[in-house]
Amino acid sequence: MTRRTHLAIALAATALTVPTLLRAQQAPAIDMASAEIRATATVKQMTADEKVVLTHGMMPLPFFPGTVIPAEAILGAGYIHGIPRLGVPALTETDASLGVSWVGGIRKDGATALPSGLSQAASWNTDLLYRGGAMIGSEARAKGFNVLLAGGVNLMRDPRNGRTFEYLAEDPLLSGMLVGAAIRGVQSNHIISTIKHFALNGQETGRKYVDVKIDEGAARESDLLAFQIGIEQGHPGSVMCSYNRVHGEQGCASDWLLNKVLKQSWGWKGFVMSDWGAVPGVQAALNGLDQQSGAQMDPALFFGDVLKAKAASDPAYAARLDDMNKRVLTAIYAAGIDRTPATPGTAIDFAKNAGVAEETAKQGIVLLKNNGALPLAKSARSIAVIGGYADTGVLAGSGSSLVHSVDGPAATRSSGGDGAFAALMSQSYHRSAPLKAIKAAAPAATVTFRDGRYIADAVEKAKQAEVAIVFANEWRTEGLDQPDLSLPDGQDALIAAVAAANPNTIVVLQTGGPVMMPWLDKVAAVVEAWYPGARGGEAIASVLFGDTNPGGRLPVTFPASLEQLPRPRLDGSDWVEPNFAGDPAPGKDQLHADYDIEGSDVGYRWFARKGAKPLFPFGFGLSYTSFSHNGLKVAGNTAQFTLSNTGKVKGDDVGQLYLVSRAGQPKRRLVGFKRVTLVPGGSQKVSLTIDPRILADWKDGGWSLPAGEYAFALGSDAENLGPAVTVKWAARAWKD
Ligand code: GLC
Repeated sequence: MTRRTHLAIALAATALTVPTLLRAQQAPAIDMASAEIRATATVKQMTADEKVVLTHGMMPLPFFPGTVIPAEAILGAGYIHGIPRLGVPALTETDASLGVSWVGGIRKDGATALPSGLSQAASWNTDLLYRGGAMIGSEARAKGFNVLLAGGVNLMRDPRNGRTFEYLAEDPLLSGMLVGAAIRGVQSNHIISTIKHFALNGQETGRKYVDVKIDEGAARESDLLAFQIGIEQGHPGSVMCSYNRVHGEQGCASDWLLNKVLKQSWGWKGFVMSDWGAVPGVQAALNGLDQQSGAQMDPALFFGDVLKAKAASDPAYAARLDDMNKRVLTAIYAAGIDRTPATPGTAIDFAKNAGVAEETAKQGIVLLKNNGALPLAKSARSIAVIGGYADTGVLAGSGSSLVHSVDGPAATRSSGGDGAFAALMSQSYHRSAPLKAIKAAAPAATVTFRDGRYIADAVEKAKQAEVAIVFANEWRTEGLDQPDLSLPDGQDALIAAVAAANPNTIVVLQTGGPVMMPWLDKVAAVVEAWYPGARGGEAIASVLFGDTNPGGRLPVTFPASLEQLPRPRLDGSDWVEPNFAGDPAPGKDQLHADYDIEGSDVGYRWFARKGAKPLFPFGFGLSYTSFSHNGLKVAGNTAQFTLSNTGKVKGDDVGQLYLVSRAGQPKRRLVGFKRVTLVPGGSQKVSLTIDPRILADWKDGGWSLPAGEYAFALGSDAENLGPAVTVKWAARAWKD
């Protein structure tokens, strides 16, 4: 590389971690310690009746016969009464990680939809996640909600998981750092954020019936480490436990997860709320659950009079009940929701907030293939736009995380069925049409649109155009997993036919996770836009025409086939009729997920262990410019390197540092990352601190590192790695 004047920014002479640097621009973490002291004093004043007020909540929606919705409740996910005598506010809860959920428009209001969790994670930018969290938290607060059920962070253990779109990544460090930043952003509004679903909630089909088998060490090094880092970085007031079983115990009654890991090993001081309809009985209180959410969805209200009676007769329950109240109050006081109450009807700057959604979408778009067809020229004369409802809007994932503006979806496409969940089983589109944005970007072009239902018709239009852009969508929903990773509705055939008619065919994917691409070698370019949120159409056009140089990197592996996965067949996929409610097929109320197959080698780590070549690796992403990665030095637990832009246009690169071997054993673990913006010829020096837990094994009740040589390498993704540098580390062992 020719040496040029490098804009070398030494981030810090001392080994500051990136998050520490970023923290300077973010609100201070909440102070749980002093809040806990205040909480303890309040509990001492509580009567027996008051002690079972904060321990349960209801779902304030008119779907449940017999539910009386309190006048002061806000229609949404949850309502927990306050204790006015003691100045304790009610808790008003809304979903979720992508913004204030729409709930079928029942409140007649709207909110700003962030892009999907995967899209956010593809930015690899903790500061951006903070900004997104701060924005959606401000909208929740402005609507009167003081709890945002955000922080979905379950690792992608199976790419068919229906909620993959909502979560972040397959790696504990990337997931933990990003979710922690998002939670800090949410809580900068003096409201409580959750982190969820704790833990090992790796599939949606039969989510209440699947029993996860995993060695404690493997869990601690993967899924639990993502939560641990997220909690350290974000200080969420609440953890939401999960539906699934682990070693036979339901997540919300798991003594191991809630007491031993979360509260004892990690010393966490907030409160555990259940997922909705996830509480098996009052004994869950002894196993670490602090609040029964949406109690109408459980067999009974366990954490009201039943719990009160238990506490009156059993000292273990009495002590637990005091602790439950202390934890809920600690979170309330730490967030400051009693002193700065959220008042509904506060004005919202939707234009400004849409800008946050658009910037997030732009930074999350991943360029997967480009033979030079992109960026498109704004002087293009003819463009054929095909499929994907591109004339209408951009796709959203369904379930409790669905967000829409006040005008509601631009279009919905029912997936059929009947019963309470049928309404949730519909695809919907945000009001942001890519076709309109494409026309605006190329005003001189003749832009045609065909919806793609008739292949011959689409092919005809593709033949007549300089370039064909095919939008291909894969919808996902909470409650149901994908049967496989193919594009539905015959879109593969449509893409292949259009590509055969026009070699200048560009595919824009809007998917909820990895998909197969049988047509990949036939098309000129592929852009993964995920579910791009409230201004997704504008973000997509900005990338296609080069106003935005794509800087996204895959947060999950795209496999080349299902056979490469630890579990090629997902248990439950043979059910008679998989359904949103996740209810079992007749006579089959037990599913099994054996995560010991891969253990903590989730995603790219599994592919490295098996020597398998994915379709696209974790961390992969192309740019309209080129980069070099040089000067890697590792001393102790500090790594430094330089990223340079060796091309002709400004662009974002993501420095990725991987452990590639440990004491002579091959390893593949992301140990640090940093997204930077570089002008042509520019460079930036990056300094990272390596968290030793990422390098360690968890066994015999703690972390341990073997003595020996540790080799690290910079990667443009988890597969394409530069030369390794080694450093000797002494053996170490420690407890959390
Ligand atoms: C749902 C989801 C959870 C959500 C809750 C309230 O079942 O699993 O993420 O926050 O119920 O809607």
